[in-house]
Amino acid sequence: MTIPQISIRNLCVDYITADGDVRAVNNVSFDIGKGEVFGLAGESGCGKSTVAFSLMRLHKPPAYISGGEVLFDDGNGAKDIMKYSDGEMGIFRWSEMSMVFQSAMNALNPVIPIVDQFTDVIMRHTDKNKYEAVKRAEQLLQIVDIHPNRLSDYPHQFSGGMRQRLVIAIALALNPKLIIMDEPTTALDVVVQREILQKIYALKEEFGFSILFITHDLSLMVEFSDRIGIMYSGELIEVAAAKDILERPYHPYTHGLGSSFPSLTGPKAELKGIPGNPLNLLELPQGCRFQARCERVTDICRRKATQLRDVQDGHLSNCHLAVGGQSIAVVETEAAAV
Ligand SMILES: Nc1ncnc2c1ncn2[C@@H]1O[C@H](COP(=O)(O)OP(=O)(O)OP(=O)(O)O)[C@@H](O)[C@H]1O
Ligand SMILES: [Mg+2]
Repeated sequence: MTIPQISIRNLCVDYITADGDVRAVNNVSFDIGKGEVFGLAGESGCGKSTVAFSLMRLHKPPAYISGGEVLFDDGNGAKDIMKYSDGEMGIFRWSEMSMVFQSAMNALNPVIPIVDQFTDVIMRHTDKNKYEAVKRAEQLLQIVDIHPNRLSDYPHQFSGGMRQRLVIAIALALNPKLIIMDEPTTALDVVVQREILQKIYALKEEFGFSILFITHDLSLMVEFSDRIGIMYSGELIEVAAAKDILERPYHPYTHGLGSSFPSLTGPKAELKGIPGNPLNLLELPQGCRFQARCERVTDICRRKATQLRDVQDGHLSNCHLAVGGQSIAVVETEAAAV
């Protein structure tokens, strides 16, 4: 990884519910390098969007950030944005860090022409006048391959893929250093999905921003990310280079994820999936959170809390059994050979 653009340290986020506080994000720590694409994966409800909204400080009650630091390099050293006042955060948000929401298709206001949605963001954060803001909006449309003469159209006059590109263009408007993309291409067909991701990747190469990329589509994530973090029940359980994480996993959950979809190039193998259901966050077990679904569970897993740590050359895992520098893939290959 290059120099960190953002360092998330022990982030904790709770939801207040009628049954008590639920910790949806527990002690999550990771860095995203400058110009790096960091993928965040894990099954539905594991806390990915909660992390994303908390980093933008756009989380809404009943959610609250109960701990942690988020150090962001704004060009003049790293600052903890969790300590920013609401006013400071209002200036920071969109200009330094922006977000494409999970429901990006609905993120545009249906009754306001596109041009006003662009100029509103630009004029609120810069000293550009209306004319200059419209010029910038035209430029942004061109960047995402939409003709600038469409600027006065309303959202419903664009296709889903185009609306998605408009939302990405708004996220790019102020040249942020980090863009959070929460399922940026869900609900689009696979061809358009790939086109949009290729466009985002080309823009990243051109402008040098970093990306936090959240998607359920693991093959797209592996293709477009430099490193990937896997979340389970509110915790980060494994972090590794994209090319390694599914090929040489150290955590049984990641191994299960990798065995849940077919390989395009490898030999045919039975898809295993992961038995059991996600944890109820109100009933956390002692020890490892994955123990009830883990086929390798041992005594230590039931007793001792897990801790994400380096298991080999920057490959992080919180599995108690990830010792001795041997990934599960290696262990299984050796077992099969006996
Ligand atoms: N308003 C809320 N009140 C209580 N709990 C909530 C609330 N919003 C989310 N949660 C809980 O927080 C946890 C994390 O939710 P989050 O939306 O971050 O998951 P996710 O990983 O983004 O899932 P998905 O892949 O489905 O988008 C879930 O267990 C969810 O039930
Ligand atoms: Mg989500």
